[in-house]
Amino acid sequence: MTRHTSPGRRLPAEVAIHRVDAGRHRLPRVFGTAHLVMLGLGVMIGAGIFGLAGQQAATAAGPAVIISFGIASLVCLLAAFSYAELSSTIPAAGSVYTFSYVAIGEVWAWLVGWALVLELVVAAALVGRFWATYFVATLDGFGLEIPAWLGEHASADTGTNWVAFVAVAVIGLLVVTGTKLSARVLTWVVAAKLAVIGFVIAVGAAYVTPGNYTPFVPQGREAEATDGPRTVLQMLVGSTEQFGAVGVFSAAGVIVFAYIGFDLIATAAEDAHEPRRSIPRSMMISLAIVTLLYVAMAVVLVGLRPSAELGSPAPVSDALEAVGVGWAAQVVNLGALLALTTVIMVVLIAQSRVLFAMGRDGLLPPSLGRVSPTFLAPSTAALVAGSIAAVLALWPGLFQLEQLLVIGALFSFLFCALAVIVLRRTQPDLERGFRVPMMPLLPVLSATATGWLMLNLTGETWRNFAIWMAGGLVLYVAYGRRHSHLAAATEPRPLQGSHRR
Ligand code: ALA
Repeated sequence: MTRHTSPGRRLPAEVAIHRVDAGRHRLPRVFGTAHLVMLGLGVMIGAGIFGLAGQQAATAAGPAVIISFGIASLVCLLAAFSYAELSSTIPAAGSVYTFSYVAIGEVWAWLVGWALVLELVVAAALVGRFWATYFVATLDGFGLEIPAWLGEHASADTGTNWVAFVAVAVIGLLVVTGTKLSARVLTWVVAAKLAVIGFVIAVGAAYVTPGNYTPFVPQGREAEATDGPRTVLQMLVGSTEQFGAVGVFSAAGVIVFAYIGFDLIATAAEDAHEPRRSIPRSMMISLAIVTLLYVAMAVVLVGLRPSAELGSPAPVSDALEAVGVGWAAQVVNLGALLALTTVIMVVLIAQSRVLFAMGRDGLLPPSLGRVSPTFLAPSTAALVAGSIAAVLALWPGLFQLEQLLVIGALFSFLFCALAVIVLRRTQPDLERGFRVPMMPLLPVLSATATGWLMLNLTGETWRNFAIWMAGGLVLYVAYGRRHSHLAAATEPRPLQGSHRR
């Protein structure tokens, strides 16, 4: 009885799977493996490499930002194993929210869903602000005169950004109408992104100054008043050092942002053909591709300019411009603009899928869990996601919140690792399209590495995250707990297809 009346109740796996296969809310299946890889690349390659790489080199890691990219990739790869097994077992739109619901329990699933909402909504808004910067840089590159008001409203890190607002709102409306990047458009967009990255590497390599790689790891120094807040790890050990090894790890935490997207492939599970095979494969393939590209591009970027000069919101094109290849900078501006547009779109699609899954389970208002008969998409969820992200994009303080969205992502990685272990024990017979090797060592390693990166985020980030999660808990108690479809179900047939554990 406890299972159906307490917040620890779990969603029966068969219910989650049954819904995917035959549920009345089913989404049309349009994605194959190649398309999912494109989707992964489409959402991963964006502000992380075109914006944060330079910023982290300038403020935390120096040229060793290359290592930070490697560390962040490793943490994501470890998490991807768990994502792959879970999404090959329960291929549902809610991703780690649904996995946690089945494996761990409702209240935890709620918290994970709530963290995903934070991650995705802040990501869409933040990328919107970078989009605005590159938009103005592109107009400028074409020699167009930028009116003062436009420049004022398009900065990534200062001022009310109306350009970002309009961009996110328009893309949000496209998502509301069920617009997806068709396989062909997505392929072209991703091809263009890859071409731009290849171009930066090829052109930039000729302008690298070896001296810019030294010192590779900038020497640690005592924090100054202008430096950012301390990481939790520093607080624990009483250190106030900036740069050095501390900087390399704290940059790795932020750079997880650049890899966000591999996990979002799982939210497309209900749109995918043969998701048990296509989702795990596409996650691994796209993660491997971007790792190679990012590391190569970071090597070139930090070779172009002294790291301290890479801190602008558009560091890649600025660095090319600074070494005298302004024409190449314009190619990068255009590529970045395209890249960021697709990132915003895919993030908003993923966000709408998570809200849809939570609404469908009764943890959020049911209108969010409906597929629009006109657009064949979770349009209400998309409208909510797009509106919040667009408004958030206006806010200048958003630029300081990049770590907040990363902690949301890392929190979900932790639950993924936990859910894979729990589900292997509690439901060993479920059909799994992919199995994590070396169980439980790999998920334990994943949780440890993720936890380590979380410790390398700032105390301020932890505090803000705690406030967000506490707010979520209040909402769960006030609404989700009582309206949950599992709570409404009564013994002995709580939900169609459910069973006793
Ligand atoms: N990974 C995405 C980006 O870097 C979110 O923009």
